[in-house]
Amino acid sequence: MKIAIGSDHGGFNYKNKIKEYLTSSGIVFVDAGTYSLAACDYPEIAHKVAGMVVAGEVDRGILICGTGIGMSIAANKTVGIRAALCSDTFSARATREHNDSNILCLGERVLGEGLMLDIVKIWLETPFSQGERHQKRISMIEK
Ligand code: RB5
Repeated sequence: MKIAIGSDHGGFNYKNKIKEYLTSSGIVFVDAGTYSLAACDYPEIAHKVAGMVVAGEVDRGILICGTGIGMSIAANKTVGIRAALCSDTFSARATREHNDSNILCLGERVLGEGLMLDIVKIWLETPFSQGERHQKRISMIEK
């Protein structure tokens, strides 16, 4: 699995934490920026990562901003993206099983580091349920 990871300045520290986790887990990733704590515009990073996912350059994406909300709103504008903002592990598992979410959004100003890393781990490890009812609903979203 190859991951694209991006953040604005509000998610920069957690991007680095997640990169450490991905490296230690042997998961290949592309860092789509931002590359410093200088203020930047989250839609640019969201669109970059979303574009990489729908182009098939990566399998899935992770986006972090202060709340995760701006990133999720922006990423979900790209057709084919199912970005899930998660602040708990139940939702992280359920959105993979039911929605086949292909981008995980996180809020650095919302989550503690331990919970954030648990959410990332569960979201990465949980497969889509493949059930016909879930696939039908995902197809409805695309249409
Ligand atoms: C940046 O200050 C902040 O607005 C951004 O990180 C994010 O929370 C937007 O939704």
